[in-house]
Amino acid sequence: MRILVTRRWPQEVERELQQYGEVTLNEEDEPLSEMQLRAALSDFDIVCPTVTDQLNAQVLASVSDPRTKLLANFGVGVNHIDLQQARQMSIQVTNTPGVLTHATAEIAMALLLMSARRTGEGERHLRAQAWTGWRPTHMLSHQITGGTLGIVGMGRIGIAMARKAHHGFGMSILYYSRSPLDDSIALELGARQVSLEELLSLSQFVSLHCPATPATHHLIDEQALRLMRSDAHLINTARGDVVDEVALVNALKKGEIAGAGLDVYEMEPALSPGLMALENTVLLPHMGSGTSETRIAMGRCAMDNVAAFVQGIPLPNQVEKV
Ligand code: DGY
Repeated sequence: MRILVTRRWPQEVERELQQYGEVTLNEEDEPLSEMQLRAALSDFDIVCPTVTDQLNAQVLASVSDPRTKLLANFGVGVNHIDLQQARQMSIQVTNTPGVLTHATAEIAMALLLMSARRTGEGERHLRAQAWTGWRPTHMLSHQITGGTLGIVGMGRIGIAMARKAHHGFGMSILYYSRSPLDDSIALELGARQVSLEELLSLSQFVSLHCPATPATHHLIDEQALRLMRSDAHLINTARGDVVDEVALVNALKKGEIAGAGLDVYEMEPALSPGLMALENTVLLPHMGSGTSETRIAMGRCAMDNVAAFVQGIPLPNQVEKV
């Protein structure tokens, strides 16, 4: 089996993967070009891509006789892969769910705290040597304890975020999701399922945890942002294109919402014009799952899918088209 890993993985997992075939690593760790992705599909039985590999319908369809039969994605989000096209070409797709739940919820919580308490702004202020000392009205912000958190997408990560917010900070939880929570979890969190409109208009904090699908593309657009409270903060650790970033920049500029904490962007690593200059944003470089423990677990999870494929047994994390 010829296996390609498109970006560097934690070393121990790269080593462990060698037992399943002849592994090619991307030593430079540069994102693959469209041409390199096409070549990969022709030359390797298994490709282990990640979010920086745009395996869209056009790229996949341009390879008429692919050697690749498995795309073992390193990551839970698979919006960079055209699942329908992959299925038409009999290429199976797997992902790494379950192992990045807490790491991602931690970053969402960090962004919520940073945005609400203006900590990014405060740090910039201090490092710019602009701080003249303590005073009662300096850099006032808003308390999160006891506030209302609206969660969009109540899957594993949404639930983990709700638990941290509710049990750690006494926050009330509203959620918008396709399916209701199990009764026991809803009870534990005192969580109420509401419409998106209700969630946006009632929550001081809105945290996005839904996958990027055609149905969630620009779910938070100009109209949705207008429904939000002027003291609200938007947190996005899901995928950039769930938010219309241009509309978000406008809303932040006009003070229609109070702030945003973002880990993901529509055209990452590029940011929409104007976003970087806004003081009322906290901007992180897509590091939600970025703990050593989690990245090792993600690698092992992707490897388990490779192992199952090599052994001809059912794949543990086959992705179904949503
Ligand atoms: C994920 O697992 O989806 C992370 O965002 C990296 O792609």
